[in-house]
Amino acid sequence: MSMSPESAAGTLYEALRRFWHPVAYSAQLQDKPVAATLLGRRLVVARLNGKAQAMESRCPHKGANLSLGAIVGDTLECAYHGWRFNHQGRCVLTPAREELTDTMRASVQTYATTESAGMVWVCLEEPEFPVPVFPELDDPEYRVLQGEAYDWKTSTPRRLENFVDFSHFAYVHDGTIGSRSNPRVDAVDVWREGHVLRFDRCGVKEPGAGLKKKLLGLTEDWYEPVNEYHVTMPHTVHLKRTFPNGKRYVLFMAASPVDETTTRSFWWQARDFGTEPEHDAFFQDFEAEVLAQDKPIIESQLPVWINLRGAAPEERERPLRDADVVTVEYRRWLSELCFSKATA
Ligand code: FES
Ligand SMILES: [Fe+2]
Repeated sequence: MSMSPESAAGTLYEALRRFWHPVAYSAQLQDKPVAATLLGRRLVVARLNGKAQAMESRCPHKGANLSLGAIVGDTLECAYHGWRFNHQGRCVLTPAREELTDTMRASVQTYATTESAGMVWVCLEEPEFPVPVFPELDDPEYRVLQGEAYDWKTSTPRRLENFVDFSHFAYVHDGTIGSRSNPRVDAVDVWREGHVLRFDRCGVKEPGAGLKKKLLGLTEDWYEPVNEYHVTMPHTVHLKRTFPNGKRYVLFMAASPVDETTTRSFWWQARDFGTEPEHDAFFQDFEAEVLAQDKPIIESQLPVWINLRGAAPEERERPLRDADVVTVEYRRWLSELCFSKATA
């Protein structure tokens, strides 16, 4: 799919250049450079001088991909002819003729790079909002598991909306996180806190059963967790579920726009009950099952990019009052972020 720059969806895709997006887990940055693609741009990420740095992956000498190279001292060395680049992207060695290094003045473009939530985040332009945080990562009360990053053929807003869309639980996730016997969704309050879209969801009974119930130490047949959502715009979500006994289960998911039709989701899960590693597989399998249920549905949605403005009649969507209030408020804000600069 290619979008014309004038289209509303194209404007949204362009606007994403002004926000932080994860491109790797921090733990991936060891002694080798890592390849990443962000908004269609081929990047290389390396830890140089102890700091994560993303740059253009195309070597200015003869175009080889720098992610095939090596980290040598505090430089990134190209695999083809050994040119070395420092953390500012400046070429500091052209081995075939060392004395020409300075006169060549070669360099690769670097991008704003930071680490937070155990992830490496990159912003292609001046970042509009601070980078998202995941406080539970360093909290010793929690058992925290890094999810395996996964790619869906969809756009980032579609992926984010899926995470906070309550009325699909009863159908897509019947028996896991929802039930066909209880499809009703009540309105929730949605508000903004700084750069975060906030809403909570309470009063939804879920059956207490199986290992989770045992690990939680709950005896009731039904319980009502409190679900607190923090959506750092444009598409990172932190969901904290607090059970009636105060125990907590947390999901953190950041959707990253690889290109126009690919979204890579980086994520964590954390729990402060049943924290023994032997129970990890149960929680990992559970989340994997939920994601497998979502994937085909989300990849089927058309158009791939939501239309924030000027949708053609055949592409117009019909949000359901109250049930879709989160979607409506999310799109409202996305639209403001997208068009405030574009029309300025
Ligand atoms: S292509 Fe990179 S050093 Fe020649
Ligand atoms: Fe889902």
